[in-house]
Amino acid sequence: MSTKPSVYKNASRKEYKLTNEQRNIYRKISQESREAKRRASLGFLSSIHSINTPRLEPNQLMPPLESNGLTTLSLFSGGGGLDLGFDKAGYTHQGAYELIPICGKTLKSNRPNWIVHSGPENGDVSKVVWQDYIIDVIHGGPPCQPFSIAGQQAGQNDDRNMWGEFIRAVNAHRPKSFVAENVLGILNPKFSGFVQKYILDKLPDYHIHIFELNAADFGVPQQRRRVFFVGFRTKAAFKCFQIPKPSHRWKKSPDDLFEDTLAKTMGVREALGLADTGYDALAPTLRSAFTGKRNTTSVLNSSAGQKAWGNLGIWPNGVQANREKASAFPAKYDHFRLSVQDCALLQGFPEYWRFAGAVYQVLGQIGNSVAPPVAYQVAKAVAFALAGKQHHL
Ligand SMILES: C[S@@+](CC[C@H](N)C(=O)[O-])C[C@H]1O[C@@H](n2cnc3c(N)ncnc32)[C@H](O)[C@@H]1O
Repeated sequence: MSTKPSVYKNASRKEYKLTNEQRNIYRKISQESREAKRRASLGFLSSIHSINTPRLEPNQLMPPLESNGLTTLSLFSGGGGLDLGFDKAGYTHQGAYELIPICGKTLKSNRPNWIVHSGPENGDVSKVVWQDYIIDVIHGGPPCQPFSIAGQQAGQNDDRNMWGEFIRAVNAHRPKSFVAENVLGILNPKFSGFVQKYILDKLPDYHIHIFELNAADFGVPQQRRRVFFVGFRTKAAFKCFQIPKPSHRWKKSPDDLFEDTLAKTMGVREALGLADTGYDALAPTLRSAFTGKRNTTSVLNSSAGQKAWGNLGIWPNGVQANREKASAFPAKYDHFRLSVQDCALLQGFPEYWRFAGAVYQVLGQIGNSVAPPVAYQVAKAVAFALAGKQHHL
C-alpha cells in the first residue's frame, strides 16, 4: 500500500474521475456563470436581493462547556469542524496535523493558541515520528474519497487511504479514546473486509462503536450522513458510551413519540433568513470543492441536488466570498446567490469561525468538515463515557 496522499499534494494531479454527465453539468454551469459575471461586470444587472441576516445561531446548538480536563490531538484537521466541536465540548487542544497549508491558516487564525502543524513538511501525518504526546483522545477524519460514492470506491487500493496513518498514531499514543469520522460509503458491504482487516483488527486494544449520524438530527439544516468509529481502551468506558440521540428533527411524523421533546431543525431558507415562500427544505449534502477535478465555487453534488436547490430558489454555483458580493451578483431565475458565510452556516459553523483562502478553498474546507454541532455531541458523549457516566440529552 502506498501512503502518498497525491490528490492533496499537487492540485494539478487530482485523480478524481467524473462521469460524462457530471462533466457536462459542470461545464454548462461554468459557461453560464462566466456569461452572467460578464454581464454583471458590464452593468447589465442590478442587485436583486438584500443582504440576508441568518436566523440560525449555531452557537445555540453547541453551548460551550467547562473544561473537562481531557486533551485532544487532531489529525487530518481540515478547516476544523471536529476540532471546533471538541473545543466547545470542553476539551483542551494539544495539536493539529493537516497537509493543506490554507487549512492550517484557518485553524491558526481562529485559535491562535493552538499548536498547528500544516503543509507538506510539517503537517503530513505520514512523516511524523510519534513520541511527543500523552493524550486522552485522538480524533480525525482520514480522507474519505477512497470510500465515497462520488468517487471510484477503490478503498484500500486508493493511495489517499489514510486509515493506516490514523491507526499508527492511535497505537503509538494509546489514548483513552479515539474518534474517526468517514463517509457512509465505508459501511458499504464491499468494504466490510477492509473495515475488519485494516481498521478493527489493527486496533486490538480498543473496543469500538461504529454508528451513523445525520447532521439534520442535531439542528444543522443539511442532509449529511456520516459514519463514526469511536474506540475506548477500557470495556467500562465502551459500555458507558451512548450514541448521541437526535436533539432536533426536520419533519415530525404524526406517530412521532418524541414530538414534544425534539426541537425543529430549520430549513435552509429559514436558517439563512430568506423570505418565506411557503416552501423550505434541508440543504442537500454540501460538496467539498477539494475533491473535484477542477477548482470550483459550486456546492452542487448531483443532479438531484440541483433540483433540490432549484426548489429552494437558491443558486448553488458561483458562491461568493461574502454576502455583499453575493447580493450584488444576481443569479438566474431570481434565485438567491450563496456566500461562503451562508455555506458555513448550513454546515453548522458559527459566524465567527472564519475560513482562510479563496472561495473554492473555503468550500473545500466546509464540504470536507464534520458539522461542528455533530462533533460536539460525539465529543460530549465520549467525555461522559470516560467519566463513567451515561450521556442523557
Ligand atoms: C475529511 S477532511 C477532514 C475534515 C476535518 N475532520 C473537519 O472536521 O473539518 C480530511 C483532511 O485530511 C487532510 N490530509 C490528507 N492527507 C493528509 C496527510 N497525509 N497528513 C495530514 N493531513 C492529511 C486533507 O487535506 C483534508 O483536509
